[in-house]
Amino acid sequence: MFSRFSRLMSALSRLALVALAAAFTTAVFAGQFAFAQSNKPQTAQPASEKTGDVARGKYIVEGVAMCGQCHTPRDSQGNPDRKHWLQGGPVPFMPAEPDSDWPVRVPRIGGTPPADDADMVKLLTTGIWTTGNRLRFPMPQFRMDRSDAEAVVAYLKSLPSQP
Ligand code: HEC
Repeated sequence: MFSRFSRLMSALSRLALVALAAAFTTAVFAGQFAFAQSNKPQTAQPASEKTGDVARGKYIVEGVAMCGQCHTPRDSQGNPDRKHWLQGGPVPFMPAEPDSDWPVRVPRIGGTPPADDADMVKLLTTGIWTTGNRLRFPMPQFRMDRSDAEAVVAYLKSLPSQP
């Protein structure tokens, strides 16, 4: 009688041990799964998307649209002065024929841009400025697509404002 009882008890405790081991294994796996989940790259990353925009805008401004060639004053060697990057200055070239409507200065566009985002994007996508008119030559009439224009504006705003 007693031995049967003890056999039952030991069988029960073995069962409990197995159950405990199973629970432990499950917990470890669940933990690993949760860890793997938290290590997965997030799909929405607003901060790095912004950085991507700025990098693309920089590429368009410096390598494609060449805004800095006109919107940056020249140094003594005649090169755009990086210390005053996109801060405006004298128009770097004159028309072949005298033109009374030729602009004398190129405005500052880096730092705080001269118009809000919507107006800046409108200029770069349509060529129309806040006045409702085109800007004067030699400012190019850009027809960028919207995402390029937004990237340019993001880049301009990322620059330090200078007095
Ligand atoms: C070939 C020279 C040249 C290039 C390149 C150029 N600009 Fe201009 N930009 C000008 C001139 C000149 C004016 C002034 C036009 C006027 O007074 O009507 C101007 C005016 C502007 C204005 C109006 C600012 C204000 O306060 O009135 C903005 C904004 C602007 N440019 C942005 C840009 C951007 C952004 C780029 C590059 C994507 C660019 N420009 C490339 C010559 C240039």
